[in-house]
Amino acid sequence: MDSLLIKGGVPLHGDVQISGAKNAVLPIMAATLLTNEPCVIRHVPDLTDVKFMGKILQSLGAEVTIEGDTFTVQARRIKGHGDYELIRKMRGSICILGPLLARLRKAEVSQPGGCVIGTRPIDLHLKGLRALGAKIVVDEGYVRVQAPRLIGTEIFLGGRAGPTVLGTANIMSAAVLAEGVTIIESAACEPEVTDLANFLNAMGAKIQGAGSPTLTITGVKELHGAEHEVIPDRIEAATFAIAAAMTNGEITIHGARPDHMNAVIDKLREAGVKVERRGTSLVVKRGGKLQPVDVTTLPYAGFPTDVQAQMMALMCLTPGISIITERIFESRFSHVAELGRLGADISIEGPSAIVKGGKRLSGAPVMASDLRASAALVLAGLAAKGSTQVNRIYHLDRGYEKIDQKLKQLGARISRIQET
Ligand code: EPZ
Repeated sequence: MDSLLIKGGVPLHGDVQISGAKNAVLPIMAATLLTNEPCVIRHVPDLTDVKFMGKILQSLGAEVTIEGDTFTVQARRIKGHGDYELIRKMRGSICILGPLLARLRKAEVSQPGGCVIGTRPIDLHLKGLRALGAKIVVDEGYVRVQAPRLIGTEIFLGGRAGPTVLGTANIMSAAVLAEGVTIIESAACEPEVTDLANFLNAMGAKIQGAGSPTLTITGVKELHGAEHEVIPDRIEAATFAIAAAMTNGEITIHGARPDHMNAVIDKLREAGVKVERRGTSLVVKRGGKLQPVDVTTLPYAGFPTDVQAQMMALMCLTPGISIITERIFESRFSHVAELGRLGADISIEGPSAIVKGGKRLSGAPVMASDLRASAALVLAGLAAKGSTQVNRIYHLDRGYEKIDQKLKQLGARISRIQET
């Protein structure tokens, strides 16, 4: 398993280009199953999760061709079940359920596993599909759904932690071919859900209200092929903004959507970070002494849970007490112990982490555990004195395109160690 070796203490300077959003492209790729015509998807990030999704679509019978960051997918003839092992390995694959059910009226996927950040239930996905008329059997590790007919209806999709992003994607993708009108209440408002809705509408779907908690979907008979450019990854952009603040450098982030990042920009400014919006670019540097902040993760447009670990890394450098409360996932603090190995002083009180910041971090070998925790450890290594080796960085490669190369271009002393 590859590792990253980082020699910290170098202020990062220069320009970085943001890639397409992982959490937009996965449901969009799944949605290409809804038509037998070719779809062209541009600005696709080069990530292992995306490669996985391509293989899953191929295992279902779709033709997938990749040229650079452009995917052409044609699901001419497909079957209702794919490669169990592939589907089991990636939680995001759950988003093929809705499109398969809509296209074939039956689907079978492996039950997605939990992961370090939580049990990741799919009860809301199943609630929505049942509401549309699906019969569902969950056994032997499979989720088997079938529906001779899909009938539009009203569905409340809110759960114990608020809306569900991929749940909304699944139900929306099933409802576009249902008979009649479907209203989804407490729908997720994330930009990635809006991007999917825009793609579905380009395919001929009739979805209104994307970006709001109420979606109105008028079912159509069939969908046609479409072309689409994936939105920039707001989480990647936030990660580089925090890298600038942590290393006391100055980074210009190009090809972003600052309007998708209001909560992050607001919180960084409160923390003493200078963030200048210039169209689709952000110029980020420290604006003087860092200030401790309190952060609570919330559904969009609140502070994103996918930036919680990276914000915690910044607060480790910030003199004072910061409180970071995770309201979306039940155990998204796997980075706390590893940050502690770098000298951070963090204690956990229920859903909150209390960060006593201000001490200089010192490099050490650390273990990546989930995608965003890995990013936080890389950021901490960039700021720490001495060397930090981040192991198991396959987690990182799932969600960040060439992050070591992008950081190196900004002046970081970072190298990838391929395990022999
Ligand atoms: C998506 O996961 C993202 N993944 C996650 O990003 C992101 O953290 C999450 O949304 C929240 O924004 C992709 O889009 C591929 P949820 P998703 O359903 O859809 C509970 C990353 O690092 N819930 O919105 O699986 C759930 O347990 C990843 O890029 C139910 O209770 O998340 C959680 O507490 C990590 N029942 C909350 O809702 C359900 O049926 C939000 O989960 C579904 C979810």
